[in-house]
Amino acid sequence: MSTMSVRSQERPSGRPLSVGVIGAGRVGAVLAARLREAGHEVVAAAGESDASRERAAALLPGVPLLKPSAVARASELLLLTVPDDMLPNVVRVLADSGAIREGQVVAHTSGRHGLAVLAPATAAGARAIALHPAMTFTGTEVDLGRLAGCVFGLTAGAGERELAEQLVAEIGGTPMWVPEEMRTLYHAGLAHGANHLVTLVSEAMEMLTAAGAADPAGTLRPLLQAALDNALANGDAALTGPIVRGDVRTVAAHLDDIAAKAPDTLPTYVAMARATLDRAVTDGRVLPIQARKIARLLDDVAWAAPRRTTNPVNHQ
Ligand SMILES: NC(=O)c1ccc[n+]([C@@H]2O[C@H](COP(=O)([O-])OP(=O)(O)OC[C@H]3O[C@@H](n4cnc5c(N)ncnc54)[C@H](OP(=O)(O)O)[C@@H]3O)[C@@H](O)[C@H]2O)c1
Repeated sequence: MSTMSVRSQERPSGRPLSVGVIGAGRVGAVLAARLREAGHEVVAAAGESDASRERAAALLPGVPLLKPSAVARASELLLLTVPDDMLPNVVRVLADSGAIREGQVVAHTSGRHGLAVLAPATAAGARAIALHPAMTFTGTEVDLGRLAGCVFGLTAGAGERELAEQLVAEIGGTPMWVPEEMRTLYHAGLAHGANHLVTLVSEAMEMLTAAGAADPAGTLRPLLQAALDNALANGDAALTGPIVRGDVRTVAAHLDDIAAKAPDTLPTYVAMARATLDRAVTDGRVLPIQARKIARLLDDVAWAAPRRTTNPVNHQ
């Protein structure tokens, strides 16, 4: 196992790095497997749970599972792929124990964190990189194919920029530079889109199931794929449906039936309808008089507890 350091400014072209990964979670096992495919030597991984052990066996066969400090000592490129909230403590403990050394490359994959969280490592002379794949991971081989073209939100100092871009290229991704002070907002944007989309789609499937659809996913798939493509291409201009058409009675009927038949989804429907209405008003795509009627309907739901009944005629 090599304990060389990686020279500032560049990695000697063609020389593989010894890579260590703490821990072998969904992201760590997959990125390490990809770096291995790219010719680097994955020398050790850390992970104690059954899930991490199974992932390491599947994606990193033959790689020994060691204690985090041993992984750090064995590697030139140390990937820290632990939960965001654990990252500060993991970096501090590794640095305090002397497991981080000068010239070592220490990279984490958190979207929210930038370089500040790696300060104890840089104080020990390490070269810090924040390298966040804008992708959702399953921790299986399926993810390897998804890395092609995946954007990586990068933050690094001038001396590490070339190396960071090189690593992303080897992984098959596309680099995007994110200023340190913008990382949290960058990550919030991704989470709002990807995580809340999962909630939205799950609730839509729940409503369709309650409506008797035999295949809610199959029913939604073509519609949602078209809506996603249109929204990504055209933003707010992609909006169709009762709110932007000003179909007040349809919105009122939705609220009634959701309250009666799928009440758990009502708060999200109301919150999303409000946001949709606000954006349509700002866009000038819904008449103010209709917007006021819809806003009143939504306000009434907010005041009604626990369930509401809406008579659309009273709101006209
Ligand atoms: N999941 C995604 O889709 C995704 C996408 C982009 C970026 N990320 C980022 O990637 C990082 C890892 O996320 P993940 O989803 O891969 O997490 P994960 O699947 O929960 O895996 C976390 C790994 O860290 C280990 N670990 C936990 N606490 C530790 C500690 N105190 N010391 C040492 N190792 C520890 C775990 O080991 P045990 O299993 O033994 O506990 C496990 O191997 C996070 O910063 C996350 O924001 C995740």
